[in-house]
Amino acid sequence: MSTVRAVPACEDELPITPDFDVWPVTHTIVDACVDGRHVRVSWDDGRESRFHFRWLRDACPCSECLNPDSREQILDVSALDATIAPTTTGVDAAGSLAVVWADDRHRSRFHPGWLRAHDYSNPAMEAGAAATVMTWGCEFVERIPTFDAQTVMHDDEALHAWLTALRQLGLTRVRDVPSHEHAVLGVAARIGVVRESVFGRTFQVRAEPKPISNAYTSAGLLPHTDLPTREVQPGIQMLHCLVNDAAGGESVMVDGFRLAEVMRREHPAAFDVLTRVPIEFNSRGRDSEYRWRAPMIALGADGQVVELRPGALVRAPVSAPFEEMEAVYDGIQTFFRLANDDTLRAVFPIHQGDLLAFDNRRILHARTAYDAASGVRHLEGCYIDRDELSSRIRVLERRKR
Ligand code: OGA
Ligand code: ZN
Ligand code: ZN
Repeated sequence: MSTVRAVPACEDELPITPDFDVWPVTHTIVDACVDGRHVRVSWDDGRESRFHFRWLRDACPCSECLNPDSREQILDVSALDATIAPTTTGVDAAGSLAVVWADDRHRSRFHPGWLRAHDYSNPAMEAGAAATVMTWGCEFVERIPTFDAQTVMHDDEALHAWLTALRQLGLTRVRDVPSHEHAVLGVAARIGVVRESVFGRTFQVRAEPKPISNAYTSAGLLPHTDLPTREVQPGIQMLHCLVNDAAGGESVMVDGFRLAEVMRREHPAAFDVLTRVPIEFNSRGRDSEYRWRAPMIALGADGQVVELRPGALVRAPVSAPFEEMEAVYDGIQTFFRLANDDTLRAVFPIHQGDLLAFDNRRILHARTAYDAASGVRHLEGCYIDRDELSSRIRVLERRKR
């Protein structure tokens, strides 16, 4: 262990951090010293954290390295010398880790709350509030998290409860949204910026004489995600019911993550082929032609299911390798048999004023056919990306840390 250790000149205010979050100081730094090619920080609860020299120099929040208004980095990381090392390390009067660098006498100070939260040498300790996803089957119809429109519009705690339920369960309902066109945009604005599509900033779901989508008829729809023909499917979909006096037209929701769990367990070969073989999705309009190829089930780095792309309405002719075609059809058919299985389908009526908000990359939505002669059914929908949801939740949680 190096003996290079000294407490630099005192400063009594904590430095800024490279973000706009609040980082409460739950533990104080009792010692900081150089150990090999890293700084070893000792905390008042006995924990030791180790930070590489280059990591610390890169994270310097001083106004030469970071713009204090934008909190974006100015430092050019390519200019850092791989042999960079401190001359002194210590704890200053404010409780920050203070480092003076040997090559240019540059001085860095690190906020202890921020530093503790970014301790990569003890990865398991601060796992954070990563959302636990809970999957569901048909019984979910009895307990779809339901919120009142006026409350989520005006109360940030209710907004937080709604959005965290949406993140965890993938499907939520907001009741008593005013029955006027574009009311869905007001609700969406509580989350963030909407994502437009070729159908507009919002889209109108009602039976039309010359429909540009099967959704704009009174026919039943198979479980699907919207816009599977795009590289990134919209993250969140909202459907607001403006009028529904027609007979039929129930909403059907299937948790794609549950479907994939069942498939993986009971039909492993079918599951495997759908995670490997890309399927093409294609929608041709008069002035547009969208196309994307991807496996119907997307896995993340740890093998967990992260996204479904069933594309029921817009699957192009399957162009799998000749030898794989039978297996691919076994996979596709197993998938849709499960999507039509009563144990997985939550089926419920959608009433005027209801707004369904769901994760369009996880939840498959559908509807039963309705009788257009019996009354009017009109929904208005819009999309928002998952990033907007995550961002809003993080901002709402900032003050609570
Ligand atoms: C759609 C759709 C469902 C419904 O417009 O994409 O799936 O209940 N609509 O009409
Ligand atoms: Zn700096
Ligand atoms: Zn749809």
